[in-house]
Amino acid sequence: MQESKSIWFNGELVPWHEAKVHVLTHALHYGSGVFEGIRAYPTARGPAILALEEHVDRLFLSCKVIELQIAWDKAEIRDAIVETVRANGHDSCYIRPLAFRGYGELGVMPNNNPTELIIASFPWGSLHGNEAIENGIDVGVSSWRRMAPNTHPAMAKVTGNYVNSSLVVAEALANGYQEGIVLDIDGFVSEGSGENIFLTYQGDVYTTPVSASILPGITRGIAMQLLTDRGVVVKEQRFAREMLYYADEIFLTGTAAEITPVKSVDKRIVGDGKVGELTRSLQNEFFGIVRGEAEDRHGWLTIV
Ligand SMILES: Cc1ncc(COP(=O)(O)O)c(C=O)c1O
Repeated sequence: MQESKSIWFNGELVPWHEAKVHVLTHALHYGSGVFEGIRAYPTARGPAILALEEHVDRLFLSCKVIELQIAWDKAEIRDAIVETVRANGHDSCYIRPLAFRGYGELGVMPNNNPTELIIASFPWGSLHGNEAIENGIDVGVSSWRRMAPNTHPAMAKVTGNYVNSSLVVAEALANGYQEGIVLDIDGFVSEGSGENIFLTYQGDVYTTPVSASILPGITRGIAMQLLTDRGVVVKEQRFAREMLYYADEIFLTGTAAEITPVKSVDKRIVGDGKVGELTRSLQNEFFGIVRGEAEDRHGWLTIV
């Protein structure tokens, strides 16, 4: 990890190495935190934070799901995020807000533990690297399942959920893939360990619905909007694993992964093995907007 100067910690910027917690912090034991992953892109007008409002809104929804109270309102958190990026002097960066149950009692549902809030920012390239953005990645269907809807709150970005993601990635890497695709409890496709999934087949575009235990991704929303703007109807529906083998194009969306093409699934080549036309043009449009080279017609950018 490339370190930055400061981390916003409960209302003030502190030096990177001084942002510390007690070992009996509740979230360390029970996964009782919620977080966001946000990106700021370099533009001619300075760093631009992508979809700041949407990310902070999702942070609050995640808090609501696990009944985590935070002492700052949405506007204060948006301002704190901008302040952190500015203080660290980044041209571009990844931003990690995290709210969590702090130190106090160790009961699973404590009454009096304070909620802590941190915002870190640091330089981070695309999750799977530039080569992945350019030429795509090889993925495999995981033997792990996404959490069933009556187990963990998959729609909330809760720290404890990410045990599932880390198991999926570990297995994928051990099997020689760059990412794992996870099925839901009923065996339908859900998403990647940290990305939503889209595919095209015979001219139609599909993505998995919220009811398939996905995290409703902000980048997924952006991709759907860009496709809708082109008059493409995105079919949000559950689909079987075989659709991954039938598909003409597959791409993954996420703040960390951006728009990453998939070139094979379970060693079966997607389409002709090259990045598909729709995927490439969507990438071009996405990167054009976030880098300030194309009109930000949906108001997704916050210039720092
Ligand atoms: C499990 C999971 N699914 C999907 C996504 C993509 O969401 P977003 O586009 O909001 O980054 C992420 C990344 O945050 C994730 O962790």
